[in-house]
Amino acid sequence: MNTKAYQAAVSDSSSVSTSALQAISQRFSAIRSLSLRITEPLSAEDCVIQSMPDVSPIRWHLAHTTWFFETFLLTGISDYRPFNAQYEYLFNSYYNTVGKQFPRHQRGLLSRPGLDEIIDYRLHVDAQLGHMLDEDLLDANALHILEIGLQHEQQHQELMLTDIKHVLSCNPLLPAYSPTQRQTSESHSLLGAIPLEWTECDEQIVNIGHDGNGFAFDNEGPRHRALLQKHSIATRCVTNAEFLEFVEDGGYQRPELWLSLGWDLVCREEWRSPLYWLRGNDGWQEFTLAGLQPLSAAQPVSHVSYFEADAFARWAGKRLPTEYEWEYAAQNSVQPGQRQEGVFADHLMDNGEAVQPQPQAKEEWLGNVWQWTSSDYSAYPGFEAEEGALGEYNGKFMCNQYVLRGGSCATSSTHIRTTYRNFFPPQARWQFSGIRLAD
Ligand SMILES: [Fe+2]
Repeated sequence: MNTKAYQAAVSDSSSVSTSALQAISQRFSAIRSLSLRITEPLSAEDCVIQSMPDVSPIRWHLAHTTWFFETFLLTGISDYRPFNAQYEYLFNSYYNTVGKQFPRHQRGLLSRPGLDEIIDYRLHVDAQLGHMLDEDLLDANALHILEIGLQHEQQHQELMLTDIKHVLSCNPLLPAYSPTQRQTSESHSLLGAIPLEWTECDEQIVNIGHDGNGFAFDNEGPRHRALLQKHSIATRCVTNAEFLEFVEDGGYQRPELWLSLGWDLVCREEWRSPLYWLRGNDGWQEFTLAGLQPLSAAQPVSHVSYFEADAFARWAGKRLPTEYEWEYAAQNSVQPGQRQEGVFADHLMDNGEAVQPQPQAKEEWLGNVWQWTSSDYSAYPGFEAEEGALGEYNGKFMCNQYVLRGGSCATSSTHIRTTYRNFFPPQARWQFSGIRLAD
């Protein structure tokens, strides 16, 4: 969060008008209920499984996002009684300032508390916060933390979708997350991807980072100047068809294309394609949240690691963009503050469509697939972490990770910005992560 600018904007609690409070209240209930909508197609058994250390059980996500509001907003209130004091240990993710945590890789061992009890926990915390919003009992700082809690819950909604996709992919029956979802809208399925074109950029100094208007995480600021070299950047992401050429050209068998750590991983894990691609008798297929589907040639490739994105770029004679190149290009085509057009989880779910990338029919920078950049995740000049325990949110992860930009089909449209910095280690590929090339 660009803390100072944001807090200055809300520093006078009397400036929070009734209509602004109503908007926050509506946003609170809309975001909290979306988490339950994501859970609706699932059985209680689905919600327990942890299929790998990076994945958390759905039930844990539901509890942890609730714990976040309880810990950072409600426990400071003198007459608040915790729903269950033991939850602090079970559902604290990584906040050492708050206390010890149950080991992340063992979250799937927690068969208790059950789903019903977690739902009761959510209702308990929601009722407390709803009352405080209705009675205008939250001061500016509390509203600021409430907003972080909502943004945090939206991040976990994306993880819920990608985690349950991984869980279901481990079942040989390859069940669909939701059989009622359509694969893609008719209008999209008839479209191909736009031709690959390149936007030229001369060498120049540009402004990078969040400007302080509206919410941003601390890692997006401060806004600062950065030198861009002369370069060009693609107007769309790499498609499945283009990535298939790399696969069929022996891309996964050619060590000269890979970073050393990536090649070790390819050999050890026997990677031969993006995660979720399967070669059947009738050609390539892809496991999706709508079940097993023929591989869509025009969709942007997704579920590739940084190593695969980098190797593909080398094979193509190109490179990945830096995060500054990406942000400068995105700034020039996305109007701040406008409703985001594109492929986003909330829009897809409202339309009854599967949460899945769709062919990129026009130039777009936000939604569909996250895009790996060549930039390692580190602090901007003058970075200041959020105060207190919430300072552990972003800053302490600035080591051994790469920045991804743009959001994905599993991101909510109200959650993403051109300055947003996501980050994952280079081997991660269970997110909807894709490739945009630069030259
Ligand atoms: Fe979290």
